Amino acid sequence: GKGPLRIVITGAAGQIAYSLLYQICSGDVFGQEQDLIVNLLDITPMLGVLQGVVMEIEDCSLPLVKGVFPTDSVEVAFKDIDVALFVGAMPRKEGMERKDLLSANVKIFKPQGQALEKFAKKTCKILVVGNPANTNCFILAQNAPSIPRENFTCLTRLDHNRAIGQIASRLKISPKSVKNVIIWGNHSSTQFPDARSATVNVNGKETPAYDALKDDNWLKNDFVSIVQKRGAAVIAARKLSSAMSAAKAICDHMRDWWFGTKDHEFTSMGLISDGSYGIEKGLVYSYPVQIKDGKISIVQDLKIDDWSRDLMDKTQKELIEEKNDALKATSTE
Ligand code: NAI
Repeated sequence: GKGPLRIVITGAAGQIAYSLLYQICSGDVFGQEQDLIVNLLDITPMLGVLQGVVMEIEDCSLPLVKGVFPTDSVEVAFKDIDVALFVGAMPRKEGMERKDLLSANVKIFKPQGQALEKFAKKTCKILVVGNPANTNCFILAQNAPSIPRENFTCLTRLDHNRAIGQIASRLKISPKSVKNVIIWGNHSSTQFPDARSATVNVNGKETPAYDALKDDNWLKNDFVSIVQKRGAAVIAARKLSSAMSAAKAICDHMRDWWFGTKDHEFTSMGLISDGSYGIEKGLVYSYPVQIKDGKISIVQDLKIDDWSRDLMDKTQKELIEEKNDALKATSTE
Protein backbone atom coordinates (compact mmCIF):
# COMPACT_ATOMS: atom_id res chain seq x y z
CA GLY A 1 0.00 0.00 0.00
CA LYS A 2 1.03 3.64 -0.04
CA GLY A 3 3.00 5.05 2.82
CA PRO A 4 1.95 8.07 4.84
CA LEU A 5 1.92 11.43 3.14
CA ARG A 6 4.28 13.90 4.81
CA ILE A 7 2.73 17.33 5.15
CA VAL A 8 4.24 20.47 6.63
CA ILE A 9 2.14 23.42 7.75
CA THR A 10 3.98 26.65 8.54
CA GLY A 11 2.40 29.21 10.84
CA ALA A 12 0.91 26.17 12.52
CA ALA A 13 0.17 28.00 15.78
CA GLY A 14 -1.93 30.62 13.98
CA GLN A 15 -5.64 30.98 13.40
CA ILE A 16 -5.86 29.60 9.84
CA ALA A 17 -3.92 26.49 10.85
CA TYR A 18 -6.30 25.99 13.76
CA SER A 19 -9.26 25.80 11.33
CA LEU A 20 -7.28 23.80 8.78
CA LEU A 21 -5.79 20.98 10.80
CA TYR A 22 -8.94 19.05 11.59
CA GLN A 23 -10.07 19.08 7.96
CA ILE A 24 -6.72 17.75 6.76
CA CYS A 25 -6.21 15.24 9.55
CA SER A 26 -9.72 13.83 9.22
CA GLY A 27 -9.09 12.82 5.58
CA ASP A 28 -11.25 15.51 4.06
CA VAL A 29 -8.51 16.61 1.64
CA PHE A 30 -6.28 13.67 0.70
CA GLY A 31 -8.94 11.01 1.14
CA GLN A 32 -9.92 8.40 3.69
CA GLU A 33 -7.32 5.89 2.44
CA GLN A 34 -4.31 8.13 2.93
CA ASP A 35 -2.30 8.02 6.17
CA LEU A 36 -0.67 11.29 7.18
CA ILE A 37 2.37 12.56 9.04
CA VAL A 38 2.04 16.22 9.93
CA ASN A 39 4.91 18.57 10.72
CA LEU A 40 3.93 21.79 12.43
CA LEU A 41 6.38 24.67 11.95
CA ASP A 42 6.22 27.93 13.83
CA ILE A 43 8.69 30.33 15.44
CA THR A 44 10.35 29.52 18.78
CA PRO A 45 8.08 31.67 21.00
CA MET A 46 5.06 29.73 19.67
CA LEU A 47 6.35 26.24 20.58
CA GLY A 48 4.24 26.22 23.74
CA VAL A 49 1.09 27.01 21.76
CA LEU A 50 2.04 24.30 19.24
CA GLN A 51 2.15 21.77 22.09
CA GLY A 52 -1.49 22.61 22.77
CA VAL A 53 -2.36 22.08 19.10
CA VAL A 54 -0.60 18.70 19.18
CA MET A 55 -2.64 17.74 22.26
CA GLU A 56 -5.87 18.67 20.52
CA ILE A 57 -5.02 16.66 17.40
CA GLU A 58 -4.35 13.70 19.68
CA ASP A 59 -7.66 14.33 21.45
CA CYS A 60 -9.50 14.19 18.11
CA SER A 61 -8.47 10.48 17.89
CA LEU A 62 -8.04 10.54 14.14
CA PRO A 63 -7.07 7.15 12.68
CA LEU A 64 -5.26 8.52 9.58
CA VAL A 65 -2.76 10.52 11.65
CA LYS A 66 0.43 8.52 12.14
CA GLY A 67 2.48 11.31 13.68
CA VAL A 68 2.43 14.99 14.55
CA PHE A 69 5.74 16.82 14.99
CA PRO A 70 5.88 20.39 16.29
CA THR A 71 9.13 22.20 15.52
CA ASP A 72 10.85 25.57 15.06
CA SER A 73 13.49 24.05 12.76
CA VAL A 74 13.09 24.27 8.98
CA GLU A 75 15.36 21.24 8.58
CA VAL A 76 13.07 19.07 10.70
CA ALA A 77 9.93 20.59 9.21
CA PHE A 78 10.80 20.10 5.52
CA LYS A 79 12.57 16.71 5.67
CA ASP A 80 11.15 14.37 2.97
CA ILE A 81 8.02 16.44 2.63
CA ASP A 82 5.32 15.61 -0.01
CA VAL A 83 3.06 18.62 0.61
CA ALA A 84 4.03 22.03 2.00
CA LEU A 85 1.42 24.55 3.10
CA PHE A 86 3.06 27.93 3.75
CA VAL A 87 0.57 29.68 5.98
CA GLY A 88 2.95 31.62 8.25
CA ALA A 89 4.10 35.06 7.13
CA MET A 90 4.93 38.51 8.49
CA PRO A 91 1.71 40.52 8.74
CA ARG A 92 1.49 44.15 7.61
CA LYS A 93 1.75 46.42 10.62
CA GLU A 94 0.37 49.93 11.01
CA GLY A 95 2.27 52.36 8.77
CA MET A 96 4.35 49.64 7.10
CA GLU A 97 5.14 50.31 3.45
CA ARG A 98 5.02 47.64 0.80
CA LYS A 99 8.76 47.38 0.51
CA ASP A 100 9.14 46.92 4.28
CA LEU A 101 6.48 44.20 4.22
CA LEU A 102 8.20 42.50 1.30
CA SER A 103 11.62 42.64 2.85
CA ALA A 104 10.26 41.19 6.13
CA ASN A 105 8.73 38.33 4.14
CA VAL A 106 11.84 37.74 2.04
CA LYS A 107 13.58 37.08 5.38
CA ILE A 108 11.08 34.26 5.97
CA PHE A 109 10.59 32.83 2.48
CA LYS A 110 14.22 32.85 1.30
CA PRO A 111 15.47 30.50 4.06
CA GLN A 112 12.30 28.41 3.81
CA GLY A 113 12.89 28.08 0.05
CA GLN A 114 16.48 27.04 0.68
CA ALA A 115 15.27 24.44 3.19
CA LEU A 116 12.69 23.16 0.72
CA GLU A 117 15.46 22.80 -1.88
CA LYS A 118 17.68 20.90 0.52
CA PHE A 119 15.28 18.66 2.43
CA ALA A 120 11.92 18.23 0.66
CA LYS A 121 11.06 15.58 -1.94
CA LYS A 122 11.48 16.91 -5.49
CA THR A 123 7.84 15.97 -6.12
CA CYS A 124 6.68 18.19 -3.26
CA LYS A 125 3.45 20.12 -3.96
CA ILE A 126 3.59 23.64 -2.60
CA LEU A 127 0.84 26.09 -1.66
CA VAL A 128 1.64 29.57 -0.36
CA VAL A 129 -1.09 31.26 1.68
CA GLY A 130 0.83 33.79 3.80
CA ASN A 131 0.63 37.30 2.35
CA PRO A 132 1.69 38.76 0.03
CA ALA A 133 1.01 35.23 -1.22
CA ASN A 134 1.98 35.58 -4.92
CA THR A 135 5.29 37.28 -4.25
CA ASN A 136 6.14 35.04 -1.30
CA CYS A 137 5.61 32.12 -3.68
CA PHE A 138 7.90 33.79 -6.22
CA ILE A 139 10.69 34.11 -3.62
CA LEU A 140 10.21 30.54 -2.44
CA ALA A 141 10.46 29.19 -6.01
CA GLN A 142 13.58 31.25 -6.71
CA ASN A 143 15.29 29.63 -3.75
CA ALA A 144 14.24 26.08 -4.59
CA PRO A 145 15.38 25.80 -8.22
CA SER A 146 15.44 21.99 -8.37
CA ILE A 147 11.73 21.61 -7.61
CA PRO A 148 9.64 21.72 -10.82
CA ARG A 149 8.06 25.14 -11.48
CA GLU A 150 4.59 23.61 -11.81
CA ASN A 151 4.74 22.44 -8.18
CA PHE A 152 4.53 26.03 -6.88
CA THR A 153 1.10 27.56 -6.32
CA CYS A 154 -0.43 30.34 -4.24
CA LEU A 155 -3.93 30.63 -2.85
CA THR A 156 -6.56 32.59 -4.77
CA ARG A 157 -9.25 29.98 -4.14
CA LEU A 158 -10.68 32.04 -1.31
CA ASP A 159 -11.23 34.92 -3.77
CA HIS A 160 -12.69 32.41 -6.23
CA ASN A 161 -15.08 31.07 -3.59
CA ARG A 162 -16.03 34.62 -2.60
CA ALA A 163 -16.89 35.39 -6.24
CA ILE A 164 -19.10 32.28 -6.42
CA GLY A 165 -20.75 33.28 -3.14
CA GLN A 166 -21.59 36.75 -4.40
CA ILE A 167 -23.21 35.50 -7.62
CA ALA A 168 -25.09 32.74 -5.80
CA SER A 169 -26.56 35.10 -3.25
CA ARG A 170 -27.44 37.70 -5.88
CA LEU A 171 -29.42 35.05 -7.84
CA LYS A 172 -30.61 33.24 -4.68
CA ILE A 173 -29.23 29.93 -5.94
CA SER A 174 -26.87 27.37 -4.42
CA PRO A 175 -23.13 28.06 -4.79
CA LYS A 176 -23.04 24.59 -6.37
CA SER A 177 -24.96 26.04 -9.32
CA VAL A 178 -22.28 28.63 -10.13
CA LYS A 179 -19.34 27.51 -12.29
CA ASN A 180 -16.22 28.87 -13.95
CA VAL A 181 -15.66 32.22 -12.34
CA ILE A 182 -12.01 33.30 -12.62
CA ILE A 183 -9.64 35.21 -10.39
CA TRP A 184 -6.84 36.79 -12.44
CA GLY A 185 -3.62 38.15 -10.99
CA ASN A 186 -2.66 39.10 -7.49
CA HIS A 187 -4.32 38.00 -4.25
CA SER A 188 -4.83 41.66 -3.36
CA SER A 189 -7.30 44.44 -4.04
CA THR A 190 -6.05 44.68 -7.65
CA GLN A 191 -7.18 41.14 -8.49
CA PHE A 192 -9.67 40.80 -11.35
CA PRO A 193 -12.70 38.68 -10.41
CA ASP A 194 -14.10 37.73 -13.81
CA ALA A 195 -17.57 36.29 -14.44
CA ARG A 196 -17.50 36.43 -18.23
CA SER A 197 -16.95 32.65 -18.54
CA ALA A 198 -19.18 31.85 -15.58
CA THR A 199 -22.39 29.88 -15.97
CA VAL A 200 -25.21 29.43 -13.51
CA ASN A 201 -27.84 26.77 -13.22
CA VAL A 202 -31.23 28.35 -12.65
CA ASN A 203 -34.26 26.05 -12.58
CA GLY A 204 -32.26 23.25 -14.18
CA LYS A 205 -31.04 25.40 -17.07
CA GLU A 206 -27.37 26.22 -17.63
CA THR A 207 -27.08 29.95 -18.50
CA PRO A 208 -24.18 32.41 -18.80
CA ALA A 209 -23.97 34.43 -15.58
CA TYR A 210 -24.14 37.66 -17.59
CA ASP A 211 -27.50 36.59 -19.08
CA ALA A 212 -28.94 35.29 -15.82
CA LEU A 213 -28.04 38.43 -13.90
CA LYS A 214 -29.38 40.75 -16.60
CA ASP A 215 -27.20 43.39 -14.98
CA ASP A 216 -23.80 43.96 -16.59
CA ASN A 217 -23.42 47.01 -14.42
CA TRP A 218 -23.45 44.95 -11.21
CA LEU A 219 -21.01 42.37 -12.62
CA LYS A 220 -18.61 45.04 -13.86
CA ASN A 221 -18.71 47.23 -10.77
CA ASP A 222 -20.10 46.06 -7.41
CA PHE A 223 -19.23 42.39 -7.96
CA VAL A 224 -15.62 43.22 -8.80
CA SER A 225 -15.12 45.63 -5.92
CA ILE A 226 -16.93 43.49 -3.31
CA VAL A 227 -14.68 40.52 -4.09
CA GLN A 228 -11.56 42.70 -4.26
CA LYS A 229 -12.30 44.24 -0.85
CA ARG A 230 -13.86 41.25 0.91
CA GLY A 231 -10.74 40.44 2.92
CA ALA A 232 -10.62 43.99 4.30
CA ALA A 233 -14.37 43.88 5.08
CA VAL A 234 -13.91 40.71 7.14
CA ILE A 235 -11.00 42.25 9.03
CA ALA A 236 -13.05 45.39 9.74
CA ALA A 237 -15.89 43.28 11.16
CA ARG A 238 -14.01 40.50 12.92
CA LYS A 239 -10.87 42.43 13.88
CA LEU A 240 -9.06 39.37 12.58
CA SER A 241 -8.45 38.22 9.04
CA SER A 242 -10.46 35.47 7.35
CA ALA A 243 -9.56 32.13 8.85
CA MET A 244 -12.49 29.70 8.56
CA SER A 245 -13.04 30.56 4.90
CA ALA A 246 -9.30 30.64 4.20
CA ALA A 247 -8.85 27.16 5.67
CA LYS A 248 -11.79 25.86 3.63
CA ALA A 249 -10.28 27.36 0.47
CA ILE A 250 -6.90 25.74 1.20
CA CYS A 251 -8.68 22.38 1.43
CA ASP A 252 -10.54 22.99 -1.85
CA HIS A 253 -7.28 23.97 -3.58
CA MET A 254 -5.35 20.90 -2.39
CA ARG A 255 -8.23 18.45 -2.93
CA ASP A 256 -8.64 19.61 -6.53
CA TRP A 257 -4.88 19.34 -7.07
CA TRP A 258 -4.94 15.80 -5.68
CA PHE A 259 -8.12 14.46 -7.24
CA GLY A 260 -8.61 16.76 -10.26
CA THR A 261 -11.28 19.21 -11.34
CA LYS A 262 -14.56 18.07 -12.88
CA ASP A 263 -14.94 17.90 -16.66
CA HIS A 264 -15.67 21.30 -18.21
CA GLU A 265 -15.08 23.05 -14.89
CA PHE A 266 -12.22 25.19 -13.81
CA THR A 267 -10.93 26.84 -10.69
CA SER A 268 -8.37 29.57 -9.93
CA MET A 269 -4.80 29.17 -8.70
CA GLY A 270 -1.76 31.39 -8.52
CA LEU A 271 0.91 29.77 -10.72
CA ILE A 272 4.34 30.57 -12.07
CA SER A 273 3.31 32.08 -15.39
CA ASP A 274 4.39 30.38 -18.62
CA GLY A 275 3.50 33.56 -20.49
CA SER A 276 -0.15 32.60 -21.06
CA TYR A 277 -2.46 35.54 -21.80
CA GLY A 278 0.54 37.80 -22.35
CA ILE A 279 1.53 37.79 -18.68
CA GLU A 280 5.23 38.09 -17.85
CA LYS A 281 6.82 34.64 -17.72
CA GLY A 282 7.92 33.68 -14.21
CA LEU A 283 5.51 35.99 -12.40
CA VAL A 284 3.19 34.23 -9.90
CA TYR A 285 -0.20 35.14 -11.37
CA SER A 286 -3.64 33.67 -10.73
CA TYR A 287 -5.16 31.88 -13.73
CA PRO A 288 -8.16 29.70 -14.54
CA VAL A 289 -6.94 26.09 -14.35
CA GLN A 290 -8.05 22.55 -14.97
CA ILE A 291 -6.39 19.63 -13.21
CA LYS A 292 -6.07 16.02 -14.33
CA ASP A 293 -3.85 13.29 -12.83
CA GLY A 294 -2.12 15.88 -10.67
CA LYS A 295 -1.23 18.05 -13.66
CA ILE A 296 -2.40 21.67 -13.60
CA SER A 297 -3.16 23.28 -16.99
CA ILE A 298 -4.07 26.89 -17.63
CA VAL A 299 -7.39 27.19 -19.47
CA GLN A 300 -6.42 28.62 -22.87
CA ASP A 301 -8.14 30.68 -25.56
CA LEU A 302 -10.67 32.53 -23.43
CA LYS A 303 -11.76 35.74 -25.17
CA ILE A 304 -10.34 38.82 -23.50
CA ASP A 305 -12.05 42.13 -24.24
CA ASP A 306 -10.43 45.55 -23.72
CA TRP A 307 -12.07 46.09 -20.34
CA SER A 308 -10.71 42.77 -19.04
CA ARG A 309 -7.28 43.27 -20.60
CA ASP A 310 -6.95 46.52 -18.75
CA LEU A 311 -7.79 44.89 -15.38
CA MET A 312 -5.49 41.91 -16.08
CA ASP A 313 -2.63 44.29 -16.86
CA LYS A 314 -3.26 46.45 -13.81
CA THR A 315 -2.91 43.53 -11.40
CA GLN A 316 0.14 42.32 -13.36
CA LYS A 317 1.73 45.75 -12.93
CA GLU A 318 1.33 45.52 -9.15
CA LEU A 319 2.89 42.04 -9.16
CA ILE A 320 5.89 43.25 -11.18
CA GLU A 321 6.42 46.07 -8.66
CA GLU A 322 6.16 43.63 -5.74
CA LYS A 323 8.58 41.27 -7.46
CA ASN A 324 11.10 44.05 -8.05
CA ASP A 325 10.88 45.22 -4.42
CA ALA A 326 11.29 41.64 -3.22
CA LEU A 327 14.29 41.05 -5.51
CA LYS A 328 15.90 44.23 -4.19
CA ALA A 329 15.37 42.98 -0.64
CA THR A 330 16.82 39.57 -1.61
CA SER A 331 19.99 41.08 -3.01
CA THR A 332 20.63 43.10 0.15
CA GLU A 333 20.00 40.08 2.40
P1 NAI B 1 -1.82 34.29 12.40
O1 NAI B 1 -1.06 35.53 12.77
O2 NAI B 1 -2.92 33.83 13.28
O3 NAI B 1 -0.79 33.09 12.27
C1 NAI B 1 0.42 33.20 11.59
C2 NAI B 1 1.41 32.28 12.26
O4 NAI B 1 2.61 32.29 11.48
C3 NAI B 1 1.80 32.74 13.69
O5 NAI B 1 1.65 31.66 14.58
C4 NAI B 1 3.26 33.14 13.53
O6 NAI B 1 4.03 32.88 14.69
C5 NAI B 1 3.70 32.22 12.38
N1 NAI B 1 4.95 32.60 11.76
C6 NAI B 1 5.46 33.84 11.58
N2 NAI B 1 6.68 33.76 11.03
C7 NAI B 1 6.94 32.46 10.84
C8 NAI B 1 8.05 31.75 10.32
N3 NAI B 1 9.14 32.39 9.90
N4 NAI B 1 7.98 30.40 10.28
C9 NAI B 1 6.90 29.75 10.73
N5 NAI B 1 5.82 30.36 11.25
C10 NAI B 1 5.84 31.71 11.30
O7 NAI B 1 -2.30 34.53 10.90
P2 NAI B 1 -3.42 33.76 10.09
O8 NAI B 1 -4.71 34.44 10.28
O9 NAI B 1 -3.32 32.30 10.37
O10 NAI B 1 -2.97 34.07 8.59
C11 NAI B 1 -1.75 33.59 8.07
C12 NAI B 1 -1.40 34.26 6.77
O11 NAI B 1 -2.35 33.96 5.77
C13 NAI B 1 -1.35 35.79 6.85
O12 NAI B 1 -0.21 36.22 6.10
C14 NAI B 1 -2.61 36.21 6.14
O13 NAI B 1 -2.49 37.50 5.58
C15 NAI B 1 -2.69 35.15 5.08
N6 NAI B 1 -4.01 34.97 4.45
C16 NAI B 1 -4.04 34.65 3.12
C17 NAI B 1 -5.22 34.41 2.47
C18 NAI B 1 -5.23 34.06 1.02
O14 NAI B 1 -6.32 33.93 0.46
N7 NAI B 1 -4.11 33.90 0.33
C19 NAI B 1 -6.49 34.47 3.19
C20 NAI B 1 -6.37 34.77 4.59
C21 NAI B 1 -5.17 35.01 5.19
